[in-house]
Amino acid sequence: MATLRDALIEARNLGLERLDAQALLGHVLGRPRSWLLAHDGDALPEAEQRRYEALVRRRAAGEPFAYLVGEKEFWGLSLQVGPAVLVPRPDTETLVEWALECLHGLATPRVADLGTGSGAIALALKSARPDARICAVDLSPEALAIARGNAARLGLEIEFRAGHWWQAFGGEAQAGFELVVSNPPYIAEGDPHLPALRHEPGMALSSGADGLDAIREIVAGAPAHLAAGGRLLFEHGHDQGAAVRALLEHAGFAQVQTRRDLGGNERCTGGRLT
Ligand SMILES: C[S@@+](CC[C@H](N)C(=O)[O-])C[C@H]1O[C@@H](n2cnc3c(N)ncnc32)[C@H](O)[C@@H]1O
Repeated sequence: MATLRDALIEARNLGLERLDAQALLGHVLGRPRSWLLAHDGDALPEAEQRRYEALVRRRAAGEPFAYLVGEKEFWGLSLQVGPAVLVPRPDTETLVEWALECLHGLATPRVADLGTGSGAIALALKSARPDARICAVDLSPEALAIARGNAARLGLEIEFRAGHWWQAFGGEAQAGFELVVSNPPYIAEGDPHLPALRHEPGMALSSGADGLDAIREIVAGAPAHLAAGGRLLFEHGHDQGAAVRALLEHAGFAQVQTRRDLGGNERCTGGRLT
């Protein structure tokens, strides 16, 4: 019977990073990494070995680690994820930080998260600002089911709506969001990075020839849905800052700024409706 050490070596031979291999083994055995290190000569029972090997093969084929274990931490919250939603990225916390600054001093603000996916941004904001009234939109019913489950598990109250960007609000008079945040699909169709992301949903990733179709549409509809002085903040690609600033300025937004992510890349751009 193989030992834990053998199982880890086999995963490394298939190209897995050591930490990924250890984390998958820990996931299968329900043990922390420290336990694995102390027991690496123990035998790995056959059932666990089969489960582990299946996960290792999927990881070696490029499936995101978060899909294999079914969860991802974002803003200190444990979120369930699966192939219907983008795996939340640490860079997106830049958008959350900025959004919380915008909400500072506003009591019971109305907030919308367009393209909520797993619910990451909406849930992070609600966890930090329980008084905010947050509405989260997605076109994908499967994504919304995951987001709703995350909200229920975390005990955070969000209003979820299905629909295409602003159309999720139908004909209702919705003017009145003090803040709208969106991490929409923003990769250009045909971008050479897309194949590496093939396990994540295409509709979460790409948006038109230059990647900006979703952002253009959201900017166009924003004035009808924002309160006077309301803010609109986007996450976007590292090379899209200038284009998004231009779109917001052209639509009449003031105080248009871009923020950089932890890697120093232009990552979020937003402005204030005058
Ligand atoms: C980049 S993912 C962001 C997910 C999540 N907000 C995050 O930051 O991890 C974009 C999301 O937009 C959704 N989406 C794509 N097209 C849409 C549309 N036309 N209307 C509403 N949501 C859309 C996708 O289903 C996906 O969940």
